[in-house]
Amino acid sequence: MAQLWGGRFTKETDRLVYDFNASVSFDKRFYRQDIRGSMAHVRMLAKQGILAEGERDVILSGLEGILADVENGRLEIGEQFEDIHSFVEATLIDRIGDPGKMLHTGRSRNDQVALDMKLYARDEVCALDGLVEKLLVVLERLMEEHTETVMPGFTHLQKAQPITLAHHLGAYFEMFKRDRQRFFDIYERMNFCPLGAGALAGTTYPLDREYTAKLLGFAGPTLNSMDSVSDRDYLIELLSALSTVMMHLSRFSEEIIIWNTNEYQFVEIDDAFSTGSSIMPQKKNPDIAELVRGKTGRVYGALISLLTAMKGLPLAYNKDMQEDKELTFDAIDTVKGCLALFTGMLDTMKFHKSRMAESARKGFTNATDAADYLVNHGVPFRDAHGIIGRLVLFCMEQGKAIEELSLEELKSVSPVFEEDLYEAVSMDTCVNKRLTLGAPGKRVMEQVLAANRKWLSEHPALTAAGKE
Ligand code: ARG
Repeated sequence: MAQLWGGRFTKETDRLVYDFNASVSFDKRFYRQDIRGSMAHVRMLAKQGILAEGERDVILSGLEGILADVENGRLEIGEQFEDIHSFVEATLIDRIGDPGKMLHTGRSRNDQVALDMKLYARDEVCALDGLVEKLLVVLERLMEEHTETVMPGFTHLQKAQPITLAHHLGAYFEMFKRDRQRFFDIYERMNFCPLGAGALAGTTYPLDREYTAKLLGFAGPTLNSMDSVSDRDYLIELLSALSTVMMHLSRFSEEIIIWNTNEYQFVEIDDAFSTGSSIMPQKKNPDIAELVRGKTGRVYGALISLLTAMKGLPLAYNKDMQEDKELTFDAIDTVKGCLALFTGMLDTMKFHKSRMAESARKGFTNATDAADYLVNHGVPFRDAHGIIGRLVLFCMEQGKAIEELSLEELKSVSPVFEEDLYEAVSMDTCVNKRLTLGAPGKRVMEQVLAANRKWLSEHPALTAAGKE
């Protein structure tokens, strides 16, 4: 048990207490960020004359050595340390002696952990943004390929009106675009440096917080030391954004699962992204999509856990806040895995155009257009709605689609129908005459595709600032 704070204690910590309290098993994950933060702190201390330049250089090379040795596997972050901060400081002192004891001047683990977690979250927001960007690129490619792939659009999971696959996928493009915009916002709002807040009330050393913030690529220092050590809003925002990403992935997964059924056969998931059954030899299951859907709950759980952990906390730091780590790490790992797998699955999936088109033709998806035809010939819409309702009933009795009826049959329902009805209710008209911006008509879809391409080129994946 290696502790930084034994001085005022007369007894050893109970073993169970030690284990319960320790965080190194999970916070060792941000050793890079911890060392990066310490290096910036030491540079600032020397600039302010709090450390001599010689001391700074010895500490910096000691920290560099620790970083290199952890990276190359020569140094293990052992569980005999309470947390990653203790590990780095104790190892530094062990390696360079007395100068190492100056590292923690003007700093508390409270502002240190606030910084580490922020640096970590900031790096991960960038990685997550890159993964959503990759998904958007695949979506954009598929949309370009499928501006003429007609399929039924649904409401209540009942066939509603014909659309195109590009239009359907475009809905997800919008969702994931908003997810990236949320990442941009979160990054900007979180990008203030808490280091220098001390335990809660700042410090009497003449720290230059602007300088530390700049070294670490932050927009500036935070402005209240109590808030600096106890703010976890940025993690709650991140978990909320991740929950929304998962909700989108889960909806999309649900659709793919439905489209992949034997009944629909709109798509076929690639063999490399499907699994089989141990008993039923014929089976090819959409496990990846199901797992993505299933893991969504776990990310929502992280959000609710952290909101709940924070809700009763008095200012400033409380140990409850250590609970932010495992759940945030788990949520980030989960979402990264889901995004990578989902993108691979989508990228390799086959779309059965003829099945989609046939499904659109079969479900009276052109009934609205038939009613609009009557309206264009002077029938009030409410009457037209009633007439087409009767026409659909008639078609169902005959086992025919609207366009399969003869003009005579059509006229038996309404004398307003003429030969041009057939053109008016063709799939091509239903889709391509829908030209309001955002609709499936090819001409407007092409405008949207151009706008999407422009947006993607203007929004490259976020990169974390201040990497040394
Ligand atoms: N492991 C702690 C955490 O994650 C580090 C901060 C410890 N501070 C303290 N006063 N015990 O929150």
